[in-house]
Amino acid sequence: MKFFLDSADTNEIKGALSFGILDGVTTNPSLIKEAVERKKSKGERINLDSYIRQMLKLCKGKPVSLEVVSSDYKNMLSEAETIFKKYNKVAKNVYVKVPVNPCTDLKCTNQMDGIRVIRKLSEKNIPVNCTLIFTPEQALLAAKAGAKFVSPFVGRIDDYLRETAHIKFDKSDYFPREGWKKGKWVLNDNGIVSGVELIKEISVIFGKQKIKSKILAASIRNTRQVREVAEAGADIATIPFKVLGKIAEHVKTVEGMNKFTKDVVPEYVKLIGAKHR
Ligand code: G3P
Repeated sequence: MKFFLDSADTNEIKGALSFGILDGVTTNPSLIKEAVERKKSKGERINLDSYIRQMLKLCKGKPVSLEVVSSDYKNMLSEAETIFKKYNKVAKNVYVKVPVNPCTDLKCTNQMDGIRVIRKLSEKNIPVNCTLIFTPEQALLAAKAGAKFVSPFVGRIDDYLRETAHIKFDKSDYFPREGWKKGKWVLNDNGIVSGVELIKEISVIFGKQKIKSKILAASIRNTRQVREVAEAGADIATIPFKVLGKIAEHVKTVEGMNKFTKDVVPEYVKLIGAKHR
């Protein structure tokens, strides 16, 4: 499984790149807002155009997703083309992020505009990351339209299941992959019992249907979900910086390091040229 960073913050991107395991970056309008506000709160000025260019150069050789912002075919297509034309020449690593369905209310009549945009962009060889996926059938549709990546939102489907059952929770709380039992029932959204199961179902379908689109597990909230989406068949997980930094953490690793560093004999220190004592 590839590890992407879910961030538009260049300091976080530099940090994650320094680990040597980063395969790509995903952004969205909220993450860009966060990064801009963080800079402004430090009294720094930001030129978003050069900031995006810097981000793309930092990630040369690794895909970076930049999202459209409109809710209709014409404008999404025009934004996607502008994003690709303007920014892909910087480091040849732009994926345009397009919502599977751009509607901002359930009664809107252009639910398929995202799919139409994806189809059009694919015909023009513009790589698409289809976002805001909450069902296997949405993933199937996005893949059929030609999306290179499909992004199911793991954490947000878990939020939705708890919200609709009026369960209080914190976003980083673990949600059981096999679902949340309530009496005799397991909470579900039209058969989907958790974000991790959503990834599993998409993975099974893509395997059976021989679909080449990559499954990019998004909205990851804790390190256990990283393990679970890998097991469920995600090709990529996009991970927030604070979760990525915790993956190596374990109390027994710390305890073991303390013991090993205490037990080192001077002869061994000398032999390997250790500097710490
Ligand atoms: O990649 C999508 C992601 O940024 C959403 O994460 O935690 O806001 O659901 P979250």
